[in-house]
Amino acid sequence: MKANEHSLTRQLLQGKQVLITGTSGFLGKVVLEKILREIPQIGGVTLIVRGSRKYPDATERFRAEILSSSIFDRLKEKGADQLQRLVDEKVHCISAEVTETRFGLSEAAFAKLASEIDVFVNSAASVNFHEPLDQSLKINTYCLNQIAEFANLAGNIPVIQISTCYVNGHNRGEIREAVYGPAGTHVPRDTAGHYDIESIFSVLEHKIAQVKASITEPKAREAALADLGLAEANRYGWGDTYTFTKWLGEQLIRKRLSDGTLTIVRPSVVESCWEEPRRGWIEGVKVCDAILLAYAREKVSFFPARKAGVVDIIPVDLVANSVILAMAETLQAPAAFRIYQSCSGSRNPLRVGRYVTTICEEVRVNWEKYPRLCRKQPQRKFILVNKYLFVSAIKAVQAALRLGQWFNPVRGKQPSKALKMLESTLKLTGIYATYTSPRYVFNNDRLMDLAERMGPVDKALFPVDAARIDWDEYFCDVHVAGLNHYGMEDRETLASDAETGPEEEAVPDQGLENGASPA
Ligand SMILES: NC(=O)c1ccc[n+]([C@@H]2O[C@H](COP(=O)([O-])OP(=O)(O)OC[C@H]3O[C@@H](n4cnc5c(N)ncnc54)[C@H](OP(=O)(O)O)[C@@H]3O)[C@@H](O)[C@H]2O)c1
Repeated sequence: MKANEHSLTRQLLQGKQVLITGTSGFLGKVVLEKILREIPQIGGVTLIVRGSRKYPDATERFRAEILSSSIFDRLKEKGADQLQRLVDEKVHCISAEVTETRFGLSEAAFAKLASEIDVFVNSAASVNFHEPLDQSLKINTYCLNQIAEFANLAGNIPVIQISTCYVNGHNRGEIREAVYGPAGTHVPRDTAGHYDIESIFSVLEHKIAQVKASITEPKAREAALADLGLAEANRYGWGDTYTFTKWLGEQLIRKRLSDGTLTIVRPSVVESCWEEPRRGWIEGVKVCDAILLAYAREKVSFFPARKAGVVDIIPVDLVANSVILAMAETLQAPAAFRIYQSCSGSRNPLRVGRYVTTICEEVRVNWEKYPRLCRKQPQRKFILVNKYLFVSAIKAVQAALRLGQWFNPVRGKQPSKALKMLESTLKLTGIYATYTSPRYVFNNDRLMDLAERMGPVDKALFPVDAARIDWDEYFCDVHVAGLNHYGMEDRETLASDAETGPEEEAVPDQGLENGASPA
């Protein structure tokens, strides 16, 4: 950028204090890196980091697990000392728990923190599709109560809530940047348009209490609460607990901040960096990468998916830029409620069939370039099948196995391993169908308008438009290599930390796995 070119975003964020949660996670790190690299005028960035067993103190954990990330390598190129000075000057870490009352801080510490912050960005979430319902509600829903209280105490400061496009659940068709209701059970709205989430909470809390009262063994209780989450999500119109509790979170914060400034930023499936700060940078293995791993390791031959559906993938750098533009806008024009979708569906639709063909062909032809993904050249065919056919076939095999058990009373007392595996395959098919058999297209006209309003300098500095992405180039030259280099590196480190071999950890038997971080 030339010296005389003016960035409205930088100007609006000049001298401002931003608080960010979730920076130990994938997206939070990219937002933090971009602010430190591109907005030198920022007043400061406060990070709420919860202590871990290894690093109970937030600053210690920040140094060991956040600043050490390769996402900061580009900043380190200017010299480790310079980065250290930047961090010392701009970054402030607080050991706190967003889910606790006053974030677990004393009244005085909470009030002091509130008096120092100009804008709050909440990126913390449990992205586990099958989390026990009580845990998922705690972080994805109820914690928004503490954030609303903080924003009010701070003088109605703007809140940027990172949500997900998939809060739209089983709604079909074009999904715009608006509030959608549950596609399953009807939930009434008040005259201001707020859903009656209190009734939902009392139903869910009652069911959670029943499970807790009837099951005392911790593992069995946790499994039952995870199954309860899925059952309730399905009943209200979502495919998994994560997106259901994120929808509840959106409704809660919207109600609590109805007189305040709230922007909800909804990414779709966030994948590796397209351009900045490092092409292909990614942390861990995301939901769509489970397909790639399943093919690379030859774990499955059939995969339930809808070829013609639009799989919505968005590189993480575009999401981080959307968050930054949204943040700047709230400071320029407060007292408004906005929703932006950081997605690719309406601007540059990518069909499931093309996505799968592109990544599988890249891995098949160039497998030697990806030693962490492939042990050898994949030989097995990978066939996409209709979800309903897939489910019917599994149910038929289940029925045959059950019949076999009935005729064999000795072995028939316990469900066989094969039956259990089929049950879990059916459960996973239900969860992943939202992503692999899409019947919706996410639209982000409003985000495009925001980028336009911020002007040409910010359009170049903080690009958010997926229309420029050449998907073949992105997957073949950027993403698969990034996944092999960064994503699998993390998994191997995690696996060796846990003293298990990466081979066992990397891909589960069914290819679709619980371990792949979802949306
Ligand atoms: N990744 C995607 O594809 C995607 C797509 C759409 C939307 N999103 C949204 O983007 C945001 C960031 O996602 P991400 O991919 O960065 O997730 P991530 O890598 O799993 O990071 C999650 C962050 O939330 C924190 N967190 C989780 N549970 C917590 C709890 N109980 N208390 C306090 N902090 C907790 C984690 O802190 P610890 O390290 O302390 O656990 C971590 O910093 C989320 O709001 C998510 O819903 C993500």
